[in-house]
Amino acid sequence: MSNKRKTALITGITGQDGSYLADFLLAKNYAVYGLERRSSQKDRQNIQHIMGKIKMVSGDLLDEASLVHAIREAKPDEIYNLAAQSFVGESWKQPVYTGEVTGLGAVRVLEAVRQVDPKIKFYQASSSEMFGAVRETPQTETTPFYPRSPYGVAKLYAHWITVNYRESYGLFAVSGILFNHESPRRGLEFVTRKITYTAALIKQRRAKELRLGNLDASRDWGFAGDYVEAMWLMMQEKKPRDFVIGTGETHTVREFVEEVFLYLGLDYKKYVKIDKKLLRPAEVNYLKADASHVQRELGWKPKTDYKALARLMADADMAAVAHER
Ligand code: NAP
Ligand code: GDD
Repeated sequence: MSNKRKTALITGITGQDGSYLADFLLAKNYAVYGLERRSSQKDRQNIQHIMGKIKMVSGDLLDEASLVHAIREAKPDEIYNLAAQSFVGESWKQPVYTGEVTGLGAVRVLEAVRQVDPKIKFYQASSSEMFGAVRETPQTETTPFYPRSPYGVAKLYAHWITVNYRESYGLFAVSGILFNHESPRRGLEFVTRKITYTAALIKQRRAKELRLGNLDASRDWGFAGDYVEAMWLMMQEKKPRDFVIGTGETHTVREFVEEVFLYLGLDYKKYVKIDKKLLRPAEVNYLKADASHVQRELGWKPKTDYKALARLMADADMAAVAHER
């Protein structure tokens, strides 16, 4: 085995997972490049702490030429395609855009890999949203897909195109089918972070209520910092394979709210208001992973349980809100 320092290119480095993956790969002594779009307002909050250690290359999943340039510049051994329009709710408002970025974006990266160097390994951020109206429980690598949103459909395209490029061209291309994973770096529009941040505002008397949609949906929630290790492990395999990554435990949105509010010494029933505008045109009611395959084959399992996750996010938001004062 060569001792050459490996190089990784991460699309979506400014997001939750991209930033944790960058931390993880730097600790493994990788040279890390991050793809960043120039058109967006620069938001480097998640990667501010490592700006001196990573290199940024400009590019956009909508523009294949930019991806070719970025790959030529970074010369990566591994590409992690984490960039996406990742908010399910927004995908009904921007269905075509979501298809372009989240779906076709993946094939643009794969084509750029083929053009520049087909030996580069490719990771695709697939999603449990592809299971949608679930056909069986828990969901495994062989559970049939039934996406329930433009986002889920776009992710399914990206998933199958990754499988097809592996089978058609022999690329080392893998998909991690990840269940929901959260952290203090999660965007405020996602339900767990919305809950912990608003609960912290309420606790510090800066908000009076928390408006939510469907409290009955169940999710298999894990900690993002744990999940990036599974991505990396998949890329170190001899043969490219897809894996389901999750905890095997599921909780409703209501349970998550209750857990967080109780931890902060609050009665959620006094503050939570149901807002019909936050209901989705179609809902994914119940997700629960069977992650026994990844545990058996790669020795990966989550380190942070559901309660610890809720508490670490609540603690981080209590500190953030106090700091914002
Ligand atoms: P996130 O925080 O929303 O990050 C998305 C990233 O994509 C951001 O860095 C964003 O950059 C970038 N991006 C968006 N559009 C782009 C474009 N046109 N070109 C280049 N970059 C673009 O998402 P995340 O939670 O870290 O998730 C990472 C990936 O895993 C996503 O593909 C998501 O769909 C998938 N996934 C997430 C979960 C989960 O529970 N978190 C579960 C399964 C799968 P800007 O800063 O410029 O906006
Ligand atoms: N965002 C949000 N806001 N969701 C709410 C709210 C609210 O006010 N009220 C209830 N929910 C419910 C949603 O209807 C959904 O059933 C659940 O909370 C989780 O919503 P999100 O946190 O937005 O996540 P998601 O499950 O739709 O999607 C996330 O996980 C996927 C993996 O399964 C995203 O990270 C996707 O990118 C990811 O692929």
